[in-house]
Amino acid sequence: MVVYQVYPRSFQDSDGDGIGDLNGVTARLDHIRELGADAIWLSPFYPSPLADGGYDVADYEAVDGLFGTLQDADALIAAAHERGLKVLFDVVPCHTSIEHPWFREHPDWYVWSDRDGPQNNWRATFGGPSWSRDPVSGRWYLHSFYPEQPDLNWRNPEVPRAFGEALRFWLDRGVDGFRIDALDRILKDPQLRDDPAATGPPPLPEAHMEAGLEQRNSRNAPDIGTAVAQLRAAAGDDALLVGEVYLLSGGLKPYLEHLDACFCFELLHAPWEAGAVRAAVAAAAATGQAAWVLSNHDFPRLPDRVGARNVRAAALLLLTLPGMAFVYQGDELGMADGSDGGHDRAGRDRHRHPMAWDTTPNAGFTTGEPWLDVVVPADGPASEQREGSMLDWYRSLIALRRDLEGELELLDAGADVVAFRRGAHVVALNLGAADRPAPATSQLVLATPGATAATLAPGGAFVALG
Ligand code: GLC
Repeated sequence: MVVYQVYPRSFQDSDGDGIGDLNGVTARLDHIRELGADAIWLSPFYPSPLADGGYDVADYEAVDGLFGTLQDADALIAAAHERGLKVLFDVVPCHTSIEHPWFREHPDWYVWSDRDGPQNNWRATFGGPSWSRDPVSGRWYLHSFYPEQPDLNWRNPEVPRAFGEALRFWLDRGVDGFRIDALDRILKDPQLRDDPAATGPPPLPEAHMEAGLEQRNSRNAPDIGTAVAQLRAAAGDDALLVGEVYLLSGGLKPYLEHLDACFCFELLHAPWEAGAVRAAVAAAAATGQAAWVLSNHDFPRLPDRVGARNVRAAALLLLTLPGMAFVYQGDELGMADGSDGGHDRAGRDRHRHPMAWDTTPNAGFTTGEPWLDVVVPADGPASEQREGSMLDWYRSLIALRRDLEGELELLDAGADVVAFRRGAHVVALNLGAADRPAPATSQLVLATPGATAATLAPGGAFVALG
């Protein structure tokens, strides 16, 4: 399955306020269908004070007026289904917005310090202590992310019950599943003990490394599977559940027992170097439930991450691996990062710029002032991308993907080359800076300009019959 990530704020504005909205997404569904995707995942559009781009939710069962209405959400779901696209919404179980009514009405649904100050040394993801003082009650609450995002206490049975209701609210409206945010954070050490000093670099990059702590107690509690099971029970067996779990593949078992897939962050962060990429692919493929992803609204876009020369090879890798693959909006156009707009305190605006659709003002994204500038890709806006363009490349890869069957079998293909077999097909890419011999194959099926049956130029990649 190929899932297309829509960041609603930056996809298509339908009412001229400069901010993308749900009706805009509905109007552009044909773009996603023509790409060949099977499903869409929408980042949050719920009522939110937007301290964290909507990942600070103030009501799980409504649509923020900026993005439209509940009826617009219903229309979007129906229009997607008419086109054969499944719909995944984004749910945020770790924390609410501090403005969610639960924070005042049900303080015992949150995690509080037992003293007048932080209860331990935990650090928040984007810097500073994980504890802040609530000016109303004077007590200190836990927040794994920004202070505006108090953590829910999943050890209080009322929390999974209330959260389960929110999942069923959307399932009843026709949603097919969920991407579950920051899942490794929902259960912490029950005694809230300190995190120990780190003895090496973190397994995956952290926004704030300076703390020097190993996140042993502040997330991923040994019994976390019980909370994940509660999410599954609430969503039912038919819902598709994909976890955002910020751990290496080897630690995903308690999550994967209850979910369909987890993102493979090892590959998303792997240096673009054959050994590292091969190791990340091997580790995640071994789980059998990898959701492959190379970019999203939190991390650099492909040209910035792997360099312009390697973008096509990266897309080829993403879309030929077995399992679910996630394509972030704009990647299919070859979009690069934009400038920092000063909205996100962690500097992630750069990865969230609006789509470039056509040659009208603001590239067809809005008739108003866009909330962030539209970044026009090297191959032009979507309407101008013809044969040989990045869009054409993505469409060809997704079409070819249907023919790829069989388990992944990594091949030893020499320096700088990652190669694997999938049934009758062989996939190969050169991640290095020099020409490299290609693995022996009988016939190329799809190749970048820099690839022949004999040689892979830097950035060259192909799918061939073995
Ligand atoms: C996830 C989201 C990110 C957000 C964080 C806190 O990592 O992808 O955008 O800031 O969770 O909800």
